[in-house]
Amino acid sequence: MAMAQTKLYQDKWALITGASAGIGKEFAEQLSEMGANLVLTARRKDRLEALQQNLQQKGIKVEIISADLADPKAPEEILAFLADKNITPDILINNAGFGLPGGYSKTTWEDQESFIQLMVTAYAHLAHALYKQMMARGYGRIINVASVAGLMPGGPGHTLYGPSKAFLISFSESLNAEGQDRNVHCCALCPGFTWSEFHDVNGTRESLNKLPKFMMMEAAPVVAGGLKSMERGKAVYVPGLVYKTITAISGFLPRGLQQKLANAQMKKARQV
Ligand SMILES: NC(=O)c1ccc[n+]([C@@H]2O[C@H](COP(=O)([O-])OP(=O)(O)OC[C@H]3O[C@@H](n4cnc5c(N)ncnc54)[C@H](OP(=O)(O)O)[C@@H]3O)[C@@H](O)[C@H]2O)c1
Repeated sequence: MAMAQTKLYQDKWALITGASAGIGKEFAEQLSEMGANLVLTARRKDRLEALQQNLQQKGIKVEIISADLADPKAPEEILAFLADKNITPDILINNAGFGLPGGYSKTTWEDQESFIQLMVTAYAHLAHALYKQMMARGYGRIINVASVAGLMPGGPGHTLYGPSKAFLISFSESLNAEGQDRNVHCCALCPGFTWSEFHDVNGTRESLNKLPKFMMMEAAPVVAGGLKSMERGKAVYVPGLVYKTITAISGFLPRGLQQKLANAQMKKARQV
């Protein structure tokens, strides 16, 4: 009789933020295939419940918690939920996010502040709590979903988006280096434009449709490449040949020229 093959993340627990749609939902699908039990979080509970029902059929355990990560109390609420269920995640997928459209002078500070809370502080907060457990245990895997925007010069509009992603890249490099001897890996996944609800939420779908189709990626290869890179101990991963080429070439150019080229593309896709 053939023995059932043990899956890579069999009996491990993964916490995924922003699991109700797009890239986060794809992480839930792929990690469930790899045997992981899941804790899924996002604001839309109905979406989480539907995903839970669907994924449980694969024979894994799935817990859900609805939380708004723009609320400074949310990370502690999620951590209390985990403690209550006696779950210490082996894998953290820090992914929840959106883009705040408009020029900096046209937005309110309240909107920018909650953007930073969601895109920077909540990522650092959840990683801080779980990384401690991972380092003590001698095993851990973290993906911070950043963006190629974090590797490029700042452009007009959506002003704090690039800086928030640049933070995640540098942060991931540090965690990955600190965890090297404890089997704790941390990878910044840096996608370019990817099909999801992201551009519907921030109202840029129409301008995005003007970009050449080869610049759009599917979530599945983005996530598969991210998981592979995390497992291999890479600190930064850019999915897709197009974006690998753009970021590599851009790295050789003087900053001023990088800015001109990036701004020309950003003007097509961003609202200022
Ligand atoms: N799509 C792209 O082109 C692209 C490119 C580079 C990087 N990224 C990054 O990829 C990540 C995922 O985006 P996506 O493309 O998958 O977009 P998406 O389809 O819009 O999904 C975003 C996810 O984040 C959750 N979320 C948003 N605001 C939240 C909040 N305040 N509290 C808790 N959860 C929240 C959403 O759930 P609820 O609405 O249910 O809360 C949803 O599950 C983001 O960090 C984004 O910056 C995307």
